[in-house]
Amino acid sequence: MKIGILGYGTVGSGLINVIDNNKNKRDIQIESILVRNKDKYKTHKYGDKITEDIEEVFNKDLDILVELMGGLHPAYEHIKRALENKINVVTANKDMLAEYGDKLAKIANDNNVSLKFEASVGGGIPVVKPLTESLEGNSIDSMYAILNGTTNFILSKMYDEGLSYDDVLKEAQELGFAEANPEADVEGYDAARKLSILSTLAYNRRVYWKDFYLEGISNIDMKDIAYAKKIGCKIKLVGQSKLNDKIVSGFVRPVLVDDNSLLSKVDNEYNIVVLNGDSVGEVSFVGKGAGKDPTGSAVYSDVVDIFDNRYSNIDSFTKDKIEVEKTINNECQILIRFKDPKKTQILNLIDECVKSYKVINNNDELVIMVYADSEYEINNMLCLIRDKGYCREISKLLKII
Ligand code: HSE
Repeated sequence: MKIGILGYGTVGSGLINVIDNNKNKRDIQIESILVRNKDKYKTHKYGDKITEDIEEVFNKDLDILVELMGGLHPAYEHIKRALENKINVVTANKDMLAEYGDKLAKIANDNNVSLKFEASVGGGIPVVKPLTESLEGNSIDSMYAILNGTTNFILSKMYDEGLSYDDVLKEAQELGFAEANPEADVEGYDAARKLSILSTLAYNRRVYWKDFYLEGISNIDMKDIAYAKKIGCKIKLVGQSKLNDKIVSGFVRPVLVDDNSLLSKVDNEYNIVVLNGDSVGEVSFVGKGAGKDPTGSAVYSDVVDIFDNRYSNIDSFTKDKIEVEKTINNECQILIRFKDPKKTQILNLIDECVKSYKVINNNDELVIMVYADSEYEINNMLCLIRDKGYCREISKLLKII
């Protein structure tokens, strides 16, 4: 079993830990490890395998290329080259799959080799394999999930320990949870890419991540957390998608979840994926969504699957793109914060526009839980309030059940 590894960062070192810990079960030979600066590894256990030259990796006789360098380029070119040379590929690269999954799946199929990516979604949680294999006897029509460890860690620490957003982001980076550029975490891109990978596999149509409604957590402050607590909720960055006939609807956004809900129990770097299948009903997968050894465990499982000739069908990536609808088109509850409000005018307008509402805070800020027939209705009302200059700033948080 001969593998070459591209990248020796968080996930690369996690994979090597897992390979070493399982030496007595599987003899996986690391032939080559590509790094940026090999001087750092002079005294390293695998020092003689470390190289800065991709040609040295491709010169070895590899069964599998494990791509853990991240980013789109040159990772894409290396994966493509491996597949075209009939070398199986395991990757943890969600950015790559979300962007080029269609092209790579086709190249893998044409060359009759495997492209596996369990570690790209949900860190250590086995979810790609259950979705593509164990749940084959189901049509899956919806899913909701917490898919980013960094943001869940930040929101948990803000809620539990009253720590500031910036301090916790630093801690998440030190723990190896965050992306090289944490903007992908905090602005929701990482979660949207993962949701698109799961949705593509579940709905058997290509779902493109940029088509989801997308909102990150960088504007969430301690007041949002306090209002959430006041109404018995937590704030979570949630991804949700639904297949309705020929359209998918979906979002990644911070939402309020009830203290008693399943999602509110998933804290810190943990992730959860809840799938709804017509035979199995609701099924959930929970575990560590970021961090070196959990993610290394997922990469390892793909490597072993290839050696054992277990093959997953990823043809969904080659299917046509499906249209994605962004707004909540049914009954909803939304918590709205008005800063420097003209309270009477706002309340009169709200009274006219929506089904019902409840005032949560009426001091310096006006905070209201609004019940409406759709998010369109609320957005229209907020446009009117803005146009009339009734407040300096508005923010809103959807509550999901
Ligand atoms: N930055 C990612 C996260 C790493 O925080 O979930 C795992 O994909």
